[in-house]
Amino acid sequence: MCNASRELQVDLGDRSYPIVIGDGLLGKTDLTPYVAGSQVMIVTNETVAPLYLEKARANFPGKTIDTVVLPDGEKYKDWQTLNLIFDALLEKRHTRKTTLVALGGGVVGDMTGFAAACYQRGVPFIQIPTTLLSQVDSSVGGKTGINHPLGKNMIGAFHQPEIVLIDADSLKTLPPREVSAGLAEVIKYGLIRETGFLKWLESEMDRLLALSPESLVEAIYRSCACKADVVAQDEREGGLRAILNLGHTFGHAIETYAGYGNWLHGEAVGAGMVMAADLSWREGMISGADVSRTRDLIAKAGLPLVPPAGMSPADFMDLMSVDKKNVDGALRLVLLRALGDAFVTADAGAEHLAATLESFCEGRAD
Ligand code: NAD
Ligand code: GLY
Repeated sequence: MCNASRELQVDLGDRSYPIVIGDGLLGKTDLTPYVAGSQVMIVTNETVAPLYLEKARANFPGKTIDTVVLPDGEKYKDWQTLNLIFDALLEKRHTRKTTLVALGGGVVGDMTGFAAACYQRGVPFIQIPTTLLSQVDSSVGGKTGINHPLGKNMIGAFHQPEIVLIDADSLKTLPPREVSAGLAEVIKYGLIRETGFLKWLESEMDRLLALSPESLVEAIYRSCACKADVVAQDEREGGLRAILNLGHTFGHAIETYAGYGNWLHGEAVGAGMVMAADLSWREGMISGADVSRTRDLIAKAGLPLVPPAGMSPADFMDLMSVDKKNVDGALRLVLLRALGDAFVTADAGAEHLAATLESFCEGRAD
């Protein structure tokens, strides 16, 4: 265990909140200063509960703690499962002074945050993310919601937590594939804004994959610092925040094509970021060496580099046409002006996009 914890702030005026990152914080850090009333409802799932629920209770000494354990999986990020949270809150007579606690990955975090945004027209909540992806991305920034049969994350609200408590020690039980998926989002921060971080990741990747506590805490801290800065400037995604979607337009198309759950979100984003780098090169913005550097780091993290076999350029064009970033039917993509300098554009050349899709489909990328 490395004892030092690190803290940063998401600056959003009277909705500002701290992110506390360390190794061994679960069950140890007193979170009661972030709980206004006497009631706490911990929301978790059937995988995380046996691992961390008892420990998490110890973060709320003296409070009345109720719990709700949801089924595990993206397919349960829906109205029916959300209702289980409301059922538990009403059955246990939770008032508008209650505090919800999300203990789990991004699915639990997004659903708990959305339940908190809705219950009695809005109650506070705390994020205790337990996957790498949720620690570096979904627990920070206040996007909450559920899926609709016709679209992912289509029903939701912006609702910021009171505090995000991140314990890198909880990653020890995470399957390696989920660790790699989280690393895709970590690499994303290096590619969009932080060349120094990118360089650090290139030398530190083996230690991250081996779950070195010091390396994890540093990577999580630097990732959260990047996201906190972007969110503080553009909470509601009027502009800048969209750069956090590097690789996601290609990635969402891959996820949908493969069927949710077959490719993890981070895996699809990994391949999507290589595709975005390739297109940035075709647009004359980054060098071939930059593309190789991007691809090498994503490969080192254990992520796929090309879309699934059988996926065609037409499949991509069809699936990308419903991306949330699109405006008035124009496809908007996040590209790289340079490594560490991402921007959003609706002006990528159609012939360049076609060439990228052509070269990556059927694994023909070289
Ligand atoms: P997840 O929540 O499904 O977790 C992945 C798996 O790991 C699950 O089976 C979970 O039960 C298990 N798990 C969690 N913690 C564990 C631990 N410590 N040890 C062992 N197993 C553990 O997936 P995720 O990757 O954390 O999150 C994906 C979700 O996050 C998606 O729904 C996505 O839409 C959402 N998301 C939201 C935002 C946002 O800004 N709100 C950003 C990115 C992603
Ligand atoms: N994960 C992208 C965002 O929070 O905006």
